Amino acid sequence: MKIGILGGSFDPIHSGHIALAQQAMIQLSLDEVWFLPSSKTPLKDRDLTEDIHRKNMILISIKKYPNFKLNTLEMDRKGMSYTIDTVRHLRKQYPEDDFYWMIGNDQLKQFHLWKDAQEICELVSMVCFNRDYKIHKTEFNVQCLQMKDVLVSSSEIRKGNKLNYLEEGVLDYIYQHRLYVENFVQSRVKPKRFAHSVSVARLCEELALCHHLDVQKAYYIGLFHDIAKSMTKSEMEPWMDILCPENKFYAPAVWHGFVGSEIVDRIFEIHDEQIKNAIYHHVLGTSNDPYAMMIFCADKLDPLRNYDTSYGIELCKQDLKKGFEYELMENKKYLEEN
Ligand SMILES: [Fe+2]
Ligand SMILES: [Fe+2]
Repeated sequence: MKIGILGGSFDPIHSGHIALAQQAMIQLSLDEVWFLPSSKTPLKDRDLTEDIHRKNMILISIKKYPNFKLNTLEMDRKGMSYTIDTVRHLRKQYPEDDFYWMIGNDQLKQFHLWKDAQEICELVSMVCFNRDYKIHKTEFNVQCLQMKDVLVSSSEIRKGNKLNYLEEGVLDYIYQHRLYVENFVQSRVKPKRFAHSVSVARLCEELALCHHLDVQKAYYIGLFHDIAKSMTKSEMEPWMDILCPENKFYAPAVWHGFVGSEIVDRIFEIHDEQIKNAIYHHVLGTSNDPYAMMIFCADKLDPLRNYDTSYGIELCKQDLKKGFEYELMENKKYLEEN
């Protein structure tokens, strides 16, 4: 068999990786492409997501491609791994097969620094995918192929951008296991707002536990409730004009609830009516849905606020409705005074 090897951290895997594998299949007439995720090592600058999650996201992504396989050789070996070790292992384990080791041109520039680079070239066919239409010279025997670039990177996904470049089922997995989700918020709001969002999410979880609500749903409402809070009036205006012009008479300070509920749905692809509703009403406390009452209270009772919130928290834990009415009154008093 002719087997292409696509290594990487796949944190997470996205459609760009799949497109690369598909183009390799065609251009090199491969029988299979193996995705070879690197192991989480303490030496990397950025801590990689747990092996199990990166592995599962690959499995979900390649499910519908019968010629794509997962190979966990590097993950299973753990610790520091050199490509030459993997290559030797593959050659020994599959002596009948031909391997095509795929790298990008950024890696080609440094290839001479790889351990035993010459031996790697003798054991497998090195293939470089060119994305920038420049010729990169190398002293090694490396076949260069041209490929169309898919404009997405794992680091963009980790910040919550271009989530539509994930294969079907991966985003659900990400939300289910809370991977990257705090980064999604951190990259969109100011640091103080981010700390508040995480703190409110924790409090929402506590309240949900007390009242037999869905803890995961409560966490996401808390985490995302202020997602639009750092947007300027002019950034929010197009959202208001198109999606809720009937609410434009409210002061712009209130808009972030309306806009946030749409952002969660349209950008973060969380299509849950109770989550949307709770975020929509969190500023004014205008909904009696339990999740809406919960976030209205948790927002005001965030332990990071510079006043003692313990009485309100206890009241909400005992009786959410009573706590909500109390917080509504407190909020009304505060607004009148200020
Ligand atoms: Fe808010
Ligand atoms: Fe808030």
